[in-house]
Amino acid sequence: MPFKWHPEEPPPIIEEHSKAKLLVLRKCLRAYFDRLNVNPNREEFKLDLVDGFAGGGTFRDGDDIVSGSPLVMLEEVETARGRLNRKRNKPLRVDCKCYFVDVEQAHTDHLRRTLIERDHVVDSTEIVVLNEAFENVVDDISTSIRHRQPRAGRAIFLLDQTGFSRVELTLVARILSELPAAEVILTFAADVLTNHLAETPQIIKSVAPLQMTEAQIRDLIEQRDGSGGRALVQRTLRGHVRLMTGATFDTPFFIRPVQSRRALWFLHLSRHPTARDVMVRLHWETHNTFEHYGPGDFGMLGWDALRPNDIPLFNFEDLEAQQMQRQLLESMPKRLFGLASEEPISVEALRYAVANETAARFSDLDKTLLTLAGERKIEILNVDGKRRSRGLTRLRATDRIAFPDTLFLPGFSRLR
Ligand SMILES: C[S@@+](CC[C@H](N)C(=O)[O-])C[C@H]1O[C@@H](n2cnc3c(N)ncnc32)[C@H](O)[C@@H]1O
Repeated sequence: MPFKWHPEEPPPIIEEHSKAKLLVLRKCLRAYFDRLNVNPNREEFKLDLVDGFAGGGTFRDGDDIVSGSPLVMLEEVETARGRLNRKRNKPLRVDCKCYFVDVEQAHTDHLRRTLIERDHVVDSTEIVVLNEAFENVVDDISTSIRHRQPRAGRAIFLLDQTGFSRVELTLVARILSELPAAEVILTFAADVLTNHLAETPQIIKSVAPLQMTEAQIRDLIEQRDGSGGRALVQRTLRGHVRLMTGATFDTPFFIRPVQSRRALWFLHLSRHPTARDVMVRLHWETHNTFEHYGPGDFGMLGWDALRPNDIPLFNFEDLEAQQMQRQLLESMPKRLFGLASEEPISVEALRYAVANETAARFSDLDKTLLTLAGERKIEILNVDGKRRSRGLTRLRATDRIAFPDTLFLPGFSRLR
Protein backbone atom coordinates (compact mmCIF):
# COMPACT_ATOMS: atom_id res chain seq x y z
CA MET A 1 0.00 0.00 0.00
CA PRO A 2 1.43 3.39 -0.94
CA PHE A 3 1.92 5.81 1.96
CA LYS A 4 -0.65 8.58 2.39
CA TRP A 5 -0.23 11.89 4.20
CA HIS A 6 -2.79 14.58 4.99
CA PRO A 7 -1.99 17.82 6.81
CA GLU A 8 -4.84 17.31 9.28
CA GLU A 9 -4.14 13.66 10.02
CA PRO A 10 -1.40 11.68 11.77
CA PRO A 11 1.32 10.47 9.42
CA PRO A 12 1.32 6.88 8.10
CA ILE A 13 2.88 3.98 10.01
CA ILE A 14 6.43 3.29 8.93
CA GLU A 15 7.37 -0.12 7.54
CA GLU A 16 10.51 -2.08 8.34
CA HIS A 17 12.09 -1.64 4.94
CA SER A 18 11.46 2.14 5.08
CA LYS A 19 13.29 2.25 8.40
CA ALA A 20 16.23 0.41 6.87
CA LYS A 21 16.17 2.68 3.82
CA LEU A 22 16.15 5.84 5.93
CA LEU A 23 18.97 4.56 8.11
CA VAL A 24 21.09 3.92 5.06
CA LEU A 25 20.23 7.31 3.61
CA ARG A 26 21.35 8.92 6.86
CA LYS A 27 24.61 6.99 6.90
CA CYS A 28 25.14 7.69 3.23
CA LEU A 29 24.85 11.45 3.76
CA ARG A 30 27.12 11.30 6.79
CA ALA A 31 29.78 9.38 4.86
CA TYR A 32 29.45 11.81 1.95
CA PHE A 33 30.00 14.89 4.10
CA ASP A 34 32.96 13.31 5.90
CA ARG A 35 34.62 11.97 2.76
CA LEU A 36 34.48 15.29 0.92
CA ASN A 37 35.63 17.43 3.81
CA VAL A 38 38.91 15.87 4.83
CA ASN A 39 40.86 18.99 3.80
CA PRO A 40 41.16 21.12 6.95
CA ASN A 41 41.81 24.26 4.88
CA ARG A 42 38.53 24.19 3.04
CA GLU A 43 36.36 27.20 3.88
CA GLU A 44 33.11 26.38 2.13
CA PHE A 45 31.29 23.22 1.14
CA LYS A 46 28.32 23.43 -1.20
CA LEU A 47 25.92 20.58 -1.80
CA ASP A 48 22.43 20.36 -3.27
CA LEU A 49 20.09 17.65 -2.03
CA VAL A 50 17.10 16.65 -4.09
CA ASP A 51 14.31 14.45 -2.75
CA GLY A 52 12.28 13.80 -5.88
CA PHE A 53 9.62 11.62 -4.19
CA ALA A 54 9.65 13.31 -0.80
CA GLY A 55 6.38 12.23 0.82
CA GLY A 56 4.97 14.10 3.82
CA GLY A 57 8.09 14.31 6.00
CA THR A 58 7.24 12.07 8.99
CA PHE A 59 5.99 8.60 9.90
CA ARG A 60 4.47 7.01 12.97
CA ASP A 61 6.50 4.30 14.69
CA GLY A 62 4.48 3.06 17.66
CA ASP A 63 3.93 6.15 19.80
CA ASP A 64 6.81 8.01 18.18
CA ILE A 65 6.88 10.36 15.24
CA VAL A 66 10.00 9.62 13.19
CA SER A 67 11.67 11.52 10.36
CA GLY A 68 11.01 10.78 6.70
CA SER A 69 13.61 11.39 4.01
CA PRO A 70 13.33 15.24 3.81
CA LEU A 71 13.86 15.58 7.55
CA VAL A 72 16.70 13.04 7.48
CA MET A 73 18.41 15.22 4.88
CA LEU A 74 17.98 18.42 6.91
CA GLU A 75 19.07 16.74 10.15
CA GLU A 76 22.21 15.38 8.51
CA VAL A 77 23.12 18.80 7.09
CA GLU A 78 22.78 20.26 10.58
CA THR A 79 24.79 17.55 12.33
CA ALA A 80 27.47 17.75 9.60
CA ARG A 81 27.85 21.48 10.34
CA GLY A 82 28.61 20.70 13.98
CA ARG A 83 30.71 17.60 13.36
CA LEU A 84 32.87 19.02 10.58
CA ASN A 85 33.58 22.21 12.50
CA ARG A 86 34.44 20.50 15.77
CA LYS A 87 38.15 20.04 15.19
CA ARG A 88 38.81 22.96 12.89
CA ASN A 89 40.68 26.16 13.45
CA LYS A 90 39.23 27.65 10.29
CA PRO A 91 35.43 27.44 10.26
CA LEU A 92 33.83 25.52 7.39
CA ARG A 93 30.66 27.01 5.91
CA VAL A 94 28.31 24.17 4.96
CA ASP A 95 26.02 25.64 2.33
CA CYS A 96 23.26 23.21 1.33
CA LYS A 97 20.13 23.72 -0.66
CA CYS A 98 17.34 21.15 -0.51
CA TYR A 99 14.59 20.55 -3.07
CA PHE A 100 11.64 18.48 -1.87
CA VAL A 101 9.25 17.40 -4.61
CA ASP A 102 5.99 15.45 -4.41
CA VAL A 103 3.16 15.16 -6.88
CA GLU A 104 0.42 14.92 -4.20
CA GLN A 105 -0.69 18.24 -2.76
CA ALA A 106 -1.81 16.71 0.56
CA HIS A 107 1.72 15.28 0.92
CA THR A 108 3.51 18.59 0.24
CA ASP A 109 1.03 20.35 2.56
CA HIS A 110 1.89 17.88 5.31
CA LEU A 111 5.57 18.35 4.58
CA ARG A 112 5.37 22.16 4.69
CA ARG A 113 3.56 22.00 7.99
CA THR A 114 6.11 19.55 9.40
CA LEU A 115 9.00 21.77 8.32
CA ILE A 116 7.44 24.94 9.75
CA GLU A 117 6.73 23.17 13.06
CA ARG A 118 10.46 22.43 13.22
CA ASP A 119 11.38 26.08 12.60
CA HIS A 120 12.56 25.65 9.02
CA VAL A 121 11.95 28.47 6.60
CA VAL A 122 10.24 26.99 3.56
CA ASP A 123 10.68 28.37 0.03
CA SER A 124 13.87 30.07 1.05
CA THR A 125 17.40 29.96 -0.33
CA GLU A 126 17.85 26.73 1.61
CA ILE A 127 14.60 24.80 1.28
CA VAL A 128 12.23 24.60 -1.67
CA VAL A 129 9.06 22.47 -1.58
CA LEU A 130 7.50 21.77 -4.96
CA ASN A 131 4.09 20.24 -5.49
CA GLU A 132 4.91 18.85 -8.92
CA ALA A 133 5.66 15.60 -10.68
CA PHE A 134 9.43 15.14 -10.40
CA GLU A 135 9.78 14.52 -14.15
CA ASN A 136 8.32 17.98 -14.82
CA VAL A 137 10.79 19.85 -12.62
CA VAL A 138 13.99 17.81 -12.81
CA ASP A 139 15.51 19.87 -15.63
CA ASP A 140 14.85 23.16 -13.83
CA ILE A 141 16.36 21.75 -10.66
CA SER A 142 19.49 20.61 -12.53
CA THR A 143 19.80 24.08 -14.09
CA SER A 144 19.53 25.79 -10.68
CA ILE A 145 22.17 23.45 -9.28
CA ARG A 146 24.50 24.31 -12.16
CA HIS A 147 23.93 28.03 -11.52
CA ARG A 148 24.53 27.72 -7.81
CA GLN A 149 27.57 25.49 -8.24
CA PRO A 150 28.97 26.09 -11.73
CA ARG A 151 32.22 24.23 -11.02
CA ALA A 152 31.55 21.40 -8.61
CA GLY A 153 27.90 20.62 -9.31
CA ARG A 154 27.75 18.41 -6.24
CA ALA A 155 24.31 16.92 -5.71
CA ILE A 156 22.60 13.85 -4.31
CA PHE A 157 19.26 12.87 -5.81
CA LEU A 158 17.06 10.50 -3.84
CA LEU A 159 14.44 8.96 -6.11
CA ASP A 160 12.36 6.87 -3.73
CA GLN A 161 9.68 5.79 -6.14
CA THR A 162 7.04 3.30 -5.16
CA GLY A 163 7.48 0.31 -7.47
CA PHE A 164 9.87 0.24 -10.38
CA SER A 165 8.58 2.38 -13.19
CA ARG A 166 7.83 5.91 -12.00
CA VAL A 167 11.34 7.08 -12.70
CA GLU A 168 12.19 7.05 -16.38
CA LEU A 169 15.73 5.79 -16.74
CA THR A 170 16.48 8.41 -19.41
CA LEU A 171 15.72 11.01 -16.76
CA VAL A 172 18.48 9.60 -14.52
CA ALA A 173 20.77 9.62 -17.56
CA ARG A 174 20.01 13.32 -18.04
CA ILE A 175 20.83 14.09 -14.40
CA LEU A 176 24.18 12.27 -14.58
CA SER A 177 25.11 13.90 -17.87
CA GLU A 178 24.09 17.44 -16.80
CA LEU A 179 25.72 17.03 -13.39
CA PRO A 180 28.59 14.53 -13.69
CA ALA A 181 29.45 14.85 -9.99
CA ALA A 182 25.90 13.97 -8.96
CA GLU A 183 24.94 10.71 -7.30
CA VAL A 184 21.53 9.15 -7.68
CA ILE A 185 19.93 6.80 -5.18
CA LEU A 186 17.06 4.96 -6.81
CA THR A 187 14.77 2.54 -5.06
CA PHE A 188 13.58 -0.16 -7.39
CA ALA A 189 11.13 -2.95 -6.60
CA ALA A 190 13.14 -5.55 -8.49
CA ASP A 191 11.29 -8.53 -6.99
CA VAL A 192 7.86 -7.11 -7.82
CA LEU A 193 8.96 -6.53 -11.39
CA THR A 194 10.39 -10.05 -11.62
CA ASN A 195 7.16 -11.56 -10.26
CA HIS A 196 4.92 -9.62 -12.60
CA LEU A 197 6.85 -10.02 -15.80
CA ALA A 198 4.48 -11.15 -18.52
CA GLU A 199 3.99 -10.38 -22.16
CA THR A 200 0.72 -8.60 -21.63
CA PRO A 201 0.03 -5.13 -23.06
CA GLN A 202 -0.39 -3.88 -19.49
CA ILE A 203 3.09 -4.99 -18.40
CA ILE A 204 4.67 -3.84 -21.64
CA LYS A 205 3.17 -0.42 -20.98
CA SER A 206 4.20 -0.39 -17.34
CA VAL A 207 7.86 -1.08 -18.11
CA ALA A 208 8.02 1.58 -20.82
CA PRO A 209 9.88 4.01 -18.48
CA LEU A 210 12.64 1.41 -18.27
CA GLN A 211 13.14 1.59 -22.05
CA MET A 212 12.60 -2.12 -22.46
CA THR A 213 11.61 -3.61 -25.75
CA GLU A 214 9.13 -6.45 -26.05
CA ALA A 215 11.99 -8.74 -27.06
CA GLN A 216 13.88 -7.84 -23.87
CA ILE A 217 10.81 -8.56 -21.77
CA ARG A 218 10.45 -11.91 -23.49
CA ASP A 219 14.10 -12.69 -22.72
CA LEU A 220 13.59 -11.80 -19.06
CA ILE A 221 10.55 -14.07 -18.83
CA GLU A 222 12.54 -16.90 -20.38
CA GLN A 223 15.37 -16.30 -17.94
CA ARG A 224 13.04 -16.24 -14.96
CA ASP A 225 11.19 -19.39 -15.95
CA GLY A 226 14.29 -21.24 -17.16
CA SER A 227 17.26 -22.58 -15.26
CA GLY A 228 18.76 -19.11 -14.68
CA GLY A 229 15.85 -18.11 -12.46
CA ARG A 230 15.39 -14.80 -10.70
CA ALA A 231 19.11 -14.36 -10.22
CA LEU A 232 19.70 -14.16 -13.94
CA VAL A 233 16.80 -11.71 -14.35
CA GLN A 234 18.36 -9.49 -11.70
CA ARG A 235 21.73 -9.57 -13.42
CA THR A 236 20.18 -8.61 -16.74
CA LEU A 237 18.09 -5.87 -15.12
CA ARG A 238 21.09 -4.46 -13.34
CA GLY A 239 23.08 -4.24 -16.57
CA HIS A 240 20.11 -2.65 -18.28
CA VAL A 241 19.69 0.04 -15.62
CA ARG A 242 23.39 0.88 -15.72
CA LEU A 243 23.39 1.09 -19.50
CA MET A 244 20.25 3.21 -19.72
CA THR A 245 21.28 5.65 -16.98
CA GLY A 246 24.85 6.04 -18.25
CA ALA A 247 26.15 5.39 -14.72
CA THR A 248 29.73 4.15 -14.63
CA PHE A 249 29.30 2.59 -11.21
CA ASP A 250 26.41 1.02 -9.41
CA THR A 251 25.88 -0.80 -6.15
CA PRO A 252 22.78 -2.91 -6.52
CA PHE A 253 22.07 -4.30 -3.08
CA PHE A 254 18.80 -5.44 -1.67
CA ILE A 255 16.86 -4.41 1.35
CA ARG A 256 14.78 -7.41 2.20
CA PRO A 257 11.87 -6.61 4.49
CA VAL A 258 11.39 -9.20 7.21
CA GLN A 259 7.63 -9.55 6.74
CA SER A 260 7.32 -9.40 3.00
CA ARG A 261 9.74 -11.53 1.05
CA ARG A 262 9.85 -9.03 -1.76
CA ALA A 263 13.23 -7.38 -1.82
CA LEU A 264 13.76 -3.78 -2.75
CA TRP A 265 16.82 -2.59 -4.61
CA PHE A 266 18.59 0.39 -3.15
CA LEU A 267 20.55 1.33 -6.25
CA HIS A 268 23.34 3.84 -6.03
CA LEU A 269 24.37 5.24 -9.41
CA SER A 270 27.34 7.47 -10.00
CA ARG A 271 30.12 8.32 -12.38
CA HIS A 272 33.07 8.28 -10.02
CA PRO A 273 34.71 5.40 -8.16
CA THR A 274 35.07 7.17 -4.80
CA ALA A 275 31.30 7.59 -4.59
CA ARG A 276 30.89 3.90 -5.23
CA ASP A 277 33.48 3.00 -2.59
CA VAL A 278 31.80 5.20 0.05
CA MET A 279 28.57 3.37 -0.70
CA VAL A 280 30.05 -0.14 -0.54
CA ARG A 281 31.80 0.67 2.74
CA LEU A 282 28.44 1.70 4.06
CA HIS A 283 26.89 -1.63 3.09
CA TRP A 284 29.55 -3.35 5.17
CA GLU A 285 28.86 -1.07 8.11
CA THR A 286 25.11 -1.57 7.83
CA HIS A 287 25.31 -5.36 7.50
CA ASN A 288 22.12 -7.20 8.25
CA THR A 289 20.19 -4.68 6.22
CA PHE A 290 21.70 -5.47 2.86
CA GLU A 291 22.30 -8.59 0.93
CA HIS A 292 22.99 -9.77 -2.55
CA TYR A 293 23.52 -13.06 -4.23
CA GLY A 294 26.87 -14.20 -5.43
CA PRO A 295 30.32 -14.89 -4.14
CA GLY A 296 32.62 -12.30 -2.61
CA ASP A 297 35.14 -12.10 -5.39
CA PHE A 298 34.19 -11.05 -8.90
CA GLY A 299 30.84 -12.74 -9.23
CA MET A 300 28.58 -10.25 -7.51
CA LEU A 301 25.19 -10.51 -9.17
CA GLY A 302 27.12 -12.18 -11.91
CA TRP A 303 26.65 -15.78 -11.04
CA ASP A 304 27.06 -18.59 -13.39
CA ALA A 305 23.68 -19.23 -14.97
CA LEU A 306 24.46 -22.92 -15.16
CA ARG A 307 24.66 -23.16 -11.39
CA PRO A 308 21.44 -21.43 -10.41
CA ASN A 309 20.75 -23.50 -7.35
CA ASP A 310 23.85 -22.85 -5.34
CA ILE A 311 23.98 -19.09 -5.41
CA PRO A 312 25.28 -18.07 -2.02
CA LEU A 313 23.54 -15.33 -0.12
CA PHE A 314 25.91 -12.53 0.76
CA ASN A 315 25.06 -10.64 3.94
CA PHE A 316 27.99 -8.31 4.56
CA GLU A 317 28.84 -10.03 7.83
CA ASP A 318 32.23 -11.09 9.26
CA LEU A 319 31.96 -14.51 7.70
CA GLU A 320 31.44 -12.98 4.28
CA ALA A 321 34.40 -10.66 4.83
CA GLN A 322 36.69 -13.63 5.56
CA GLN A 323 35.34 -15.65 2.65
CA MET A 324 35.65 -12.66 0.39
CA GLN A 325 39.33 -12.21 1.25
CA ARG A 326 39.98 -15.89 0.51
CA GLN A 327 38.03 -15.75 -2.74
CA LEU A 328 39.75 -12.55 -3.81
CA LEU A 329 43.17 -14.06 -3.17
CA GLU A 330 42.22 -16.99 -5.33
CA SER A 331 40.64 -15.14 -8.22
CA MET A 332 42.58 -11.87 -8.31
CA PRO A 333 45.63 -13.34 -10.10
CA LYS A 334 43.49 -14.64 -12.96
CA ARG A 335 41.55 -11.39 -13.18
CA LEU A 336 44.83 -9.47 -13.17
CA PHE A 337 46.26 -11.68 -15.82
CA GLY A 338 43.52 -10.56 -18.18
CA LEU A 339 44.25 -6.93 -17.38
CA ALA A 340 47.98 -6.73 -16.83
CA SER A 341 49.71 -9.54 -18.65
CA GLU A 342 51.00 -7.25 -21.39
CA GLU A 343 51.28 -3.88 -19.62
CA PRO A 344 51.26 -3.05 -15.93
CA ILE A 345 47.92 -1.71 -14.80
CA SER A 346 47.47 1.10 -12.25
CA VAL A 347 45.69 0.43 -8.98
CA GLU A 348 43.12 3.02 -10.02
CA ALA A 349 42.48 1.36 -13.38
CA LEU A 350 42.04 -1.99 -11.63
CA ARG A 351 39.44 -0.40 -9.35
CA TYR A 352 37.58 0.98 -12.37
CA ALA A 353 37.70 -2.42 -14.06
CA VAL A 354 36.34 -4.49 -11.19
CA ALA A 355 34.22 -2.09 -9.12
CA ASN A 356 30.89 -3.24 -10.53
CA GLU A 357 31.73 -6.91 -10.11
CA THR A 358 32.54 -7.12 -6.45
CA ALA A 359 31.32 -6.27 -2.98
CA ALA A 360 34.93 -5.54 -1.97
CA ARG A 361 35.88 -2.11 -0.70
CA PHE A 362 38.94 -0.61 -2.31
CA SER A 363 40.75 -1.31 0.97
CA ASP A 364 39.89 -5.03 0.52
CA LEU A 365 41.30 -5.00 -3.00
CA ASP A 366 44.45 -3.27 -1.74
CA LYS A 367 44.84 -5.86 1.01
CA THR A 368 44.65 -8.65 -1.56
CA LEU A 369 47.19 -6.94 -3.81
CA LEU A 370 49.59 -6.39 -0.91
CA THR A 371 49.32 -10.06 0.10
CA LEU A 372 50.00 -11.17 -3.47
CA ALA A 373 52.95 -8.77 -3.65
CA GLY A 374 54.27 -10.14 -0.33
CA GLU A 375 54.06 -13.63 -1.80
CA ARG A 376 55.93 -12.32 -4.89
CA LYS A 377 53.09 -13.27 -7.16
CA ILE A 378 52.83 -9.72 -8.43
CA GLU A 379 55.06 -6.66 -8.33
CA ILE A 380 54.08 -3.17 -7.29
CA LEU A 381 55.77 -0.40 -9.29
CA ASN A 382 55.88 3.35 -8.86
CA VAL A 383 54.20 5.55 -11.40
CA ASP A 384 57.63 5.86 -13.07
CA GLY A 385 57.98 2.09 -13.32
CA LYS A 386 60.45 1.53 -10.45
CA ARG A 387 59.70 -1.39 -8.16
CA ARG A 388 58.40 -0.30 -4.76
CA SER A 389 60.14 -1.75 -1.75
CA ARG A 390 59.02 -5.10 -0.41
CA GLY A 391 57.02 -5.04 2.81
CA LEU A 392 54.72 -2.29 1.54
CA THR A 393 51.75 -1.57 3.76
CA ARG A 394 49.86 0.98 1.65
CA LEU A 395 49.13 1.34 -2.02
CA ARG A 396 48.74 4.56 -3.99
CA ALA A 397 46.11 4.81 -6.72
CA THR A 398 48.91 5.61 -9.18
CA ASP A 399 50.95 2.50 -8.30
CA ARG A 400 51.21 -0.06 -11.05
CA ILE A 401 50.74 -3.79 -10.82
CA ALA A 402 52.95 -6.02 -12.92
CA PHE A 403 53.73 -9.69 -13.16
CA PRO A 404 57.20 -10.87 -12.16
CA ASP A 405 59.39 -12.46 -14.81
CA THR A 406 58.84 -15.95 -13.45
CA LEU A 407 55.20 -16.64 -13.71
CA PHE A 408 53.41 -18.39 -10.92
CA LEU A 409 50.05 -19.19 -12.47
CA PRO A 410 49.75 -22.79 -13.56
CA GLY A 411 48.50 -22.99 -17.10
CA PHE A 412 49.27 -19.36 -17.96
CA SER A 413 52.24 -18.07 -19.86
CA ARG A 414 53.38 -14.48 -19.97
CA LEU A 415 53.36 -12.70 -23.26
CA ARG A 416 56.38 -10.52 -22.54
C1 LIG B 1 7.64 6.01 -0.96
S1 LIG B 1 6.89 7.59 -0.82
C2 LIG B 1 8.22 8.61 -0.30
C3 LIG B 1 8.72 8.38 1.07
C4 LIG B 1 9.85 9.29 1.45
N1 LIG B 1 10.94 9.20 0.50
C5 LIG B 1 10.37 8.95 2.83
O1 LIG B 1 11.13 7.98 2.95
O2 LIG B 1 10.05 9.68 3.77
C6 LIG B 1 6.72 8.05 -2.51
C7 LIG B 1 6.16 9.43 -2.74
O3 LIG B 1 6.32 9.72 -4.12
C8 LIG B 1 5.21 10.53 -4.53
N2 LIG B 1 5.15 10.47 -6.01
C9 LIG B 1 4.62 9.50 -6.79
N3 LIG B 1 4.83 9.78 -8.09
C10 LIG B 1 5.52 10.94 -8.13
C11 LIG B 1 6.06 11.76 -9.17
N4 LIG B 1 5.92 11.39 -10.44
N5 LIG B 1 6.73 12.87 -8.84
C12 LIG B 1 6.89 13.23 -7.55
N6 LIG B 1 6.39 12.52 -6.51
C13 LIG B 1 5.71 11.39 -6.80
C14 LIG B 1 4.05 9.95 -3.78
O4 LIG B 1 3.00 10.92 -3.68
C15 LIG B 1 4.68 9.58 -2.44
O5 LIG B 1 4.50 10.62 -1.53
